[in-house]
Amino acid sequence: MYRLEGKVALITGGVTGIGESTAKLFSKHGAKVVIADVQDQLGHSVIKEIGPENSTYIHCDVTNEDDVRDAVDKAVSTYGKLDIMYNNAGIVDYGKLPINDNEKKVFDRVMAVNVTGVFLGMKHAARVMIPARSGAIISTASVAGHLGGSASHAYTCSKHAVVGLSKNLAIELGQYGIRVNCVSPFVVATDLAKKFLKSDQEVVEKMTQDMGNLKGATLKADDVANAALFLASDEAKYVSGQNLFIDGGFTVFNSAMQVFKRN
Ligand SMILES: NC(=O)c1ccc[n+]([C@@H]2O[C@H](COP(=O)([O-])OP(=O)(O)OC[C@H]3O[C@@H](n4cnc5c(N)ncnc54)[C@H](O)[C@@H]3O)[C@@H](O)[C@H]2O)c1
Repeated sequence: MYRLEGKVALITGGVTGIGESTAKLFSKHGAKVVIADVQDQLGHSVIKEIGPENSTYIHCDVTNEDDVRDAVDKAVSTYGKLDIMYNNAGIVDYGKLPINDNEKKVFDRVMAVNVTGVFLGMKHAARVMIPARSGAIISTASVAGHLGGSASHAYTCSKHAVVGLSKNLAIELGQYGIRVNCVSPFVVATDLAKKFLKSDQEVVEKMTQDMGNLKGATLKADDVANAALFLASDEAKYVSGQNLFIDGGFTVFNSAMQVFKRN
């Protein structure tokens, strides 16, 4: 069953990791996909894999409003409309974590990509979705948008902001029939997580299994893509203002409480 037949999606940060998996999955489900990213060479090779008849790449730094405006306009001029905006591009700072060692310029950069980038994606998607009186906007937040102590100050702050922006926009755009949601994954062994944890794929996945609440499963980029697919599809036609956790129950667990612990 094709769940996005006839729809047009724009995905930022769609060249690697969660965004790449989502671009491929959306296309498999019948969507025309525009990938907006800064890694142009990789971007063109992802388009080759998906099929140039169903997908387009555009260079877009999400911190640059002209780039984001152009990416949205490219989706509309190429495929006639924009049904799904997925604000997924994100970075994390890999430097020292204690606040006294944090540099303002690094903090500002994380906020620029992870918050301003999402804001601009929302703003320009809304520009074309409001006249159409329909659309779905999804953004990638994180378990760090709910918890303290799981990532750097800048990253944690930025993901809390993505959750707040999504809730606020869901209220504004509800009157136009536009849904706004976000997804909050636990650790996925993408380039971003491997760099942050300074470990390779195998080690990151082992850490995820050890730390995670849900045993016997490893979170993959495809699992996040499947959550985004649901939120983008008409199956979620009355779901708005939500933050869908893909975390195996990690954020509802307080490890100080061990009443169910079995050896
Ligand atoms: N991997 C995890 O454990 C995890 C967990 C929770 C949330 N997330 C979030 O998922 C999203 C995707 O990250 P990922 O894990 O797939 O990492 P990734 O590094 O594989 O993907 C990030 C993508 O964003 C692109 N990007 C970076 N800066 C950009 C900019 N200024 N403009 C446009 N594109 C830009 C990169 O080129 C890359 O394609 C991010 O928002 C990240 O914060 C990741």
